[in-house]
Amino acid sequence: MGKMKNTLRVALLFGGRSAEHEVSLTSAAAIYRNLNPDKYQVVSVFIDKAGRWRPVESPLLPSEQLDQGDFFSFLPWKQENSPISLEADIYFPILHGPFGEDGTMQGLFEIADVPYVGASVLASAAGMDKAVAKALFTSCHLPVAEYLTIKKIDWQKDRQACLEHIHGIFNPPFFVKPANMGSSVGITKVKEPGQTAQALELAFQYDQKILVEEGIAGRELECSVLGDENPKASLPGEVIPHREFYDYRDKYHEGKTRFGIPADLTPEIVTKVQGLALQAFRAIDCSGMARVDFFLQDKTQKLFLNEINTIPGFTQISMYPKLWEISGLPFQQLLEELITLGLERHRSRKHNLEWT
Ligand SMILES: Nc1ncnc2c1ncn2[C@@H]1O[C@H](COP(=O)(O)OP(=O)(O)O)[C@@H](O)[C@H]1O
Ligand SMILES: [Mg+2]
Repeated sequence: MGKMKNTLRVALLFGGRSAEHEVSLTSAAAIYRNLNPDKYQVVSVFIDKAGRWRPVESPLLPSEQLDQGDFFSFLPWKQENSPISLEADIYFPILHGPFGEDGTMQGLFEIADVPYVGASVLASAAGMDKAVAKALFTSCHLPVAEYLTIKKIDWQKDRQACLEHIHGIFNPPFFVKPANMGSSVGITKVKEPGQTAQALELAFQYDQKILVEEGIAGRELECSVLGDENPKASLPGEVIPHREFYDYRDKYHEGKTRFGIPADLTPEIVTKVQGLALQAFRAIDCSGMARVDFFLQDKTQKLFLNEINTIPGFTQISMYPKLWEISGLPFQQLLEELITLGLERHRSRKHNLEWT
C-alpha cells in the first residue's frame, strides 16, 4: 500500500470571528508544524473575521495572503462542483472564543456527521459561558469565588437597585466581566464603589449577561486535561501577571507575563489542583481537551476554580501543550491523542445512535 493511503486527512480550521483571531493563527501554525506528515495530510481552512471560509495552502502563510481569493459558504465541505475539497477524516477547530469554542462550530460538525477534535456542543457552550460553567461547578460542590450574574435588561430597568445589590454583597476589589468573552476583554477590577457602574457598562458592551466576582488575592494556576471517559491531568503551571491582573495587553501585546512551568507548589496542592481540574472537566461533561484555571488564595491557601477553556491557546509556547510536554507528552504525541480521541468519540456516538 502506498503511503498516501495510510495518511489521515485532518482539516485544521483557524482564524475565525473572534477577538482571538490572531492567537488562533499562531496556534494553527504550531499545530501544522507538529502534525506528523507520515500520518497526517493537512487540509488548511482559514476563516476570516467576517466568518467566511477559504481553503489555503497552510496556516504558515502571511495574513495578507490568507486573506486573498475565493470564499466558501455554509457547510463548505458539501459545496458541489467545486474544484477544491474541504473533505477530511477529522476536523480540528483551533478557534478561540465565540463561533469556534462555544459549541456553534461543533454543532456544524454534528449536523454534517463528521468527527472533530475536542469538546461536544454542550461542553463547549457551557465552558464558554462563565455563568453557566460556574453554576455547573457549584452544583458539583466545586469551590468558586462568590459571584453574581446580572442581565442587561435588569441593569437597564433599575441601575440603582443593581448597584445596591452588588455593594451589599461585594467589597472592592471585585471583578466585573462579560459572561461570554475571553482574552480579558471587557473585564474590570473594581477598586472602589464609584467605579462599579462604569465597569458594568463596559462589560455589557460585550454581552447581555455579566458576572460580578469576589476578587481573590493569590496566585493563578492552570492545569491541562486530556481524555474522554478517563481524562488525565497534567502538572499545574502558573501565570505571573505583569500588571494588576492578567489583562488583554499583558496576554497578547506586552508579553511581560512570566510563567512557572511547572508551578512551584507542594505535592498536596498539585494533587488538589489535578483532582479539581478533572472534576471541573466532568462537571461540564467535557471531552478531548481543556485547560482549567484556578486561583490559589494567599491567605488561606484555598483553591478556587476560575474558568475552563475547551480550546486553549495552542501555540508552541502556550500553557496547554507546554504542561503536557513537561508531564511527559510531547506536542506531536499530544496531537495524535487528540485526533484519536475525536475519531473514537464519533465512532462510539454513532454506535449509541444506532441503538436508540
Ligand atoms: N475573581 C477574581 N479574582 C482575582 N482575579 C481575577 C478574578 N477574575 C478574573 N481575574 C483576573 O482577570 C483575568 C481574566 O479573567 P478571566 O475570568 O480568566 O477571563 P478570560 O476568559 O478573559 O481569561 C484573570 O486571569 C485574573 O488575572
Ligand atoms: Mg482566563
